[in-house]
Amino acid sequence: MAKRDRVLSGMRPSGRLHLGNYLGALQNWVRLQDTMDCFYFVADWHVLTDTSDIADVPQNTIDMAADWLGAGLDPERSTLFVQSLIPEHAELHLLLSMVTPVSWVERVPTYRERIEQLHLESPSYGLLGYPVLQAADIVMYRANWVPVGIDQVPHIELSREIVRRFNNTFRPVFVEPEAKLTEIPKVPGTDGRKMSKSYGNTIELADTAETITKKVRPMMTDPARKRRTDPGNPDVCPVFDLHRIFTPDADREWAAAGCRTAGIGCLDCKDVLLKHLLPALEPIRERREKFAERPQEIVDVLHAGSDRARAVARRTMEDVRSAVRLAP
Ligand code: TRP
Ligand code: SF4
Repeated sequence: MAKRDRVLSGMRPSGRLHLGNYLGALQNWVRLQDTMDCFYFVADWHVLTDTSDIADVPQNTIDMAADWLGAGLDPERSTLFVQSLIPEHAELHLLLSMVTPVSWVERVPTYRERIEQLHLESPSYGLLGYPVLQAADIVMYRANWVPVGIDQVPHIELSREIVRRFNNTFRPVFVEPEAKLTEIPKVPGTDGRKMSKSYGNTIELADTAETITKKVRPMMTDPARKRRTDPGNPDVCPVFDLHRIFTPDADREWAAAGCRTAGIGCLDCKDVLLKHLLPALEPIRERREKFAERPQEIVDVLHAGSDRARAVARRTMEDVRSAVRLAP
């Protein structure tokens, strides 16, 4: 069998994942397992760039990994690991930081956004170095592809520039990674805004059918449809955005026509959505729950994956250390 390309991606552990995380990233990670050699990791050191309140990180890691496994990441096929268990990332981060001009990291858009969002008066050196640590995460495993959303593209571009510099300065040790853009469908939350944990409008992968039903029934619709007799416009309705993702053509066309003619009510429309949404999510939730009931098993999976990842990282660092020979 030809050697498969390597894929690497990571998520910060912020707890349970929602439908937006699934459709925007995780589902794609699962699919990539069929064709690529996949490395997926919990970017827990990256949490420290935002906050030193880390009490929940271990549990959040377990919750997120339960979602990964529930969605179908397969620890036999993919290497699932935890960044902070691989100290080699820190060493590589240090060495890459030496070939990274401050001006490059200062102009990274996520850095500027973070400072504004969190009103940081004195951003940390660690926050500034966020994309350098990310570059270390990626090139450590000589990943060819990094599946990410569009917001992360500047980080991947920067990783390429950093390794090019490293390779030129010392010796060609690293592969230049490339972003593999995931096509992200529009996933609205229950209030019509983008689904996001910070808005409290999410449908979580851990939610039961009952909970999802309770969230979808009162969901925001086309505001022009105040009464049952008012016709609506599916193109401006967040419920219909979900229909586009989950509902087969025939039912979706039925809903759109019924909406435009006021032939159906919004609750009828939502019930049809639920008819397709619930069965799509139920197997994920069930599998997730089986893992979540046995957290120690999740921890074992992450530790076993981290052992495997660390062996790769050690080999890379041998090459790196011989390219940057310092001690006599
Ligand atoms: N910065 C990424 C995010 O916020 C997480 C991340 C850290 C990552 N290191 C990575 C993603 C390496 C891909 C590859 O989503
Ligand atoms: Fe939205 Fe459906 Fe109501 Fe139309 S009928 S406004 S698409 S929920």
